[in-house]
Amino acid sequence: MAIVYQENILTADDFVLLNQKMGLTDISIEQAKKSMGHNLYSIVAVSDDKIIGMGRLLGDGALFWYINDILVLTEHQGKGIGKNIVNKLIQYIKENSVPNTSASVFLFCAKDKEAFYEKLGFMDSCKSGGIGMFLDVNDCEYAKKSPAKKVALK
Ligand SMILES: CC(C)(COP(=O)(O)OP(=O)(O)OC[C@H]1O[C@@H](n2cnc3c(N)ncnc32)[C@H](O)[C@@H]1OP(=O)(O)O)[C@@H](O)C(=O)NCCC(=O)NCCS
Repeated sequence: MAIVYQENILTADDFVLLNQKMGLTDISIEQAKKSMGHNLYSIVAVSDDKIIGMGRLLGDGALFWYINDILVLTEHQGKGIGKNIVNKLIQYIKENSVPNTSASVFLFCAKDKEAFYEKLGFMDSCKSGGIGMFLDVNDCEYAKKSPAKKVALK
């Protein structure tokens, strides 16, 4: 089946469902809706009218771009879809940053996926003189006021 790539159609439901299918982060629909509202750009791979892969861009659209949620469903992996998704995000960055400037592109690499990103030109942030750091904030006030609902999607 031919694979087509579609821009900016990723919905909160799709996002939650794809994460569920891959056994990744358990995201509430409230979080997903708010999060999708802040995408700078998203791309999905579609086969047989079903979304089989995704990727999205966050950031300030000029100096700092963040690649997030690169995912290809297990049965479709190893066919170049993940590479195409990341390359399309990079192409978008090139076409939408301020002309004649350089921009920094960041991502948080899952364990054992380093080689996938290295083949696309990314390097360990330590080699650029800095170390990426991370904080998990577990006590968001929003979550206290409005407990996030978990939904099971088909
Ligand atoms: C990581 C992921 C997106 C790769 O997608 P994919 O469509 O299978 O990858 P591709 O077929 O485009 O692979 C591109 C290249 O990377 C290589 N590659 C892919 N995954 C790799 C891995 N885990 N380790 C080493 N190399 C890998 C491929 O062999 C291929 O090499 P080639 O260009 O020399 O042939 C996919 O495995 C996935 O969704 N994993 C689960 C979610 C996840 O961990 N996402 C990353 C979050 S940081």
